[in-house]
Amino acid sequence: MLSEKTIATIKSTVPVLEQHGVTITSTFYRNMFKAHPELLNIFNHANQQRGRQQTALANTVYAAALHIDRLEAILPAVKQIAHKHRSLGVKPEHYPIVGEHLLGAIKEVLGDAATEEILQAWEEAYGVIADAFISVEDEMYKQSETQVGGWSGFKPFRVERKVRESEVITSFYLVPADGGPLAAFEPGQYVSIRLQIPGETYTLNRQYSLSDAPGKPYYRISVKREAEGIDTPEGKVSNYLHQSVEENGIVELSAPAGDFTLNLENSSPLVLISGGVGLTPMISMLNTAVEAQPGRKVMFIHAARNANVHAMKQHVEELAEMNPNISYRWCYSNPGAEDGGYHKSGLIDLAWLKDTVPGSSAVYYFCGPIPFMKTINDALLAMDIPSDRIHYEFFGPAASLS
Ligand code: HEM
Repeated sequence: MLSEKTIATIKSTVPVLEQHGVTITSTFYRNMFKAHPELLNIFNHANQQRGRQQTALANTVYAAALHIDRLEAILPAVKQIAHKHRSLGVKPEHYPIVGEHLLGAIKEVLGDAATEEILQAWEEAYGVIADAFISVEDEMYKQSETQVGGWSGFKPFRVERKVRESEVITSFYLVPADGGPLAAFEPGQYVSIRLQIPGETYTLNRQYSLSDAPGKPYYRISVKREAEGIDTPEGKVSNYLHQSVEENGIVELSAPAGDFTLNLENSSPLVLISGGVGLTPMISMLNTAVEAQPGRKVMFIHAARNANVHAMKQHVEELAEMNPNISYRWCYSNPGAEDGGYHKSGLIDLAWLKDTVPGSSAVYYFCGPIPFMKTINDALLAMDIPSDRIHYEFFGPAASLS
């Protein structure tokens, strides 16, 4: 347990560190990758370049430090990150490396202002925070190893089928290469995919939501080909998957992870809202609700640029035709003359949402690009939807919607 004095030192230095937060974490990453280039096999280089990972790590360390005397208050955030860590294979032996370089970066950036007392306090606090992560992750490793069909680390999967869903989205149906069973998962969860792309020094990892209901003889991911192209960090993995991974090709996956999941105990009306490829966890939730809760009312709202990039349209329309509890709305920000059948032209806004969704009786799940998510979140809050009925997930590192 930390002493009162250490806790006071930590709390009093958080504002200063927050001010330098991103400089400190950028310095930290630079130094850590120099000393341990092998860690570049785990980290997403695109997130590094955009600075989102630095911000996410800095925010978490400071939030944890502020709650250092009652870390249980940030347990949900710890669990969400721990899912990502477990899915990428972060292990206890990695924590001292991160700790050493984080402390080193604080010292480097603050200079003389980082007294021995301050550094000592942060070293102790980091130890407490790291222990919290390690113990949550240990549980998750045990769970993924012991469940039926579960496994640890990455294992080879064969691409059984590749299906084009739109101009930019293609689905991959994946089965264990050894023919073994598949671990169960919850709708909304993701897998990490690991690729060794020819010409790349390090392995590349990405997370993709599973886009079909659990209980099928495959895992399905639906990947958007990023416009940036194969030479940019953003486009590398998605373009490689689209262009070079064919049926019967092998990719490596870690076991399903993530806490953005559909609560099947709840039977309130369900509203699933997605922008672009954010539809993947929503389709998994929709398909699951249809199978497991056929009496539940589900509204599926999807925003896309136009019909050409609108994936799985027919699938949702067919479900709605067969089940009167399912309804859908299509919103095209930039419809073409030939795009019939949509319900809204232009971006989703508060007035439209208010007229469309059932209000406080429903639960809301959404996923999409950050500006889209911010609009939806602000609109739902403005409609007085209680925050415990609002659930969302970011692509990539978590950010703030406020
Ligand atoms: C992701 C915090 C230790 C590797 C993250 C994220 C946060 C975070 C906030 C973003 C989660 C998201 O995607 O929403 C922390 C904290 C740590 C810690 C507070 C220490 C107490 C470590 C260690 C490693 C590691 C020891 C392994 C060397 C990663 C990786 C990601 C990640 C690879 C995914 C990011 C990406 O690829 O862009 N961590 N982390 N973390 N963390 Fe940690």
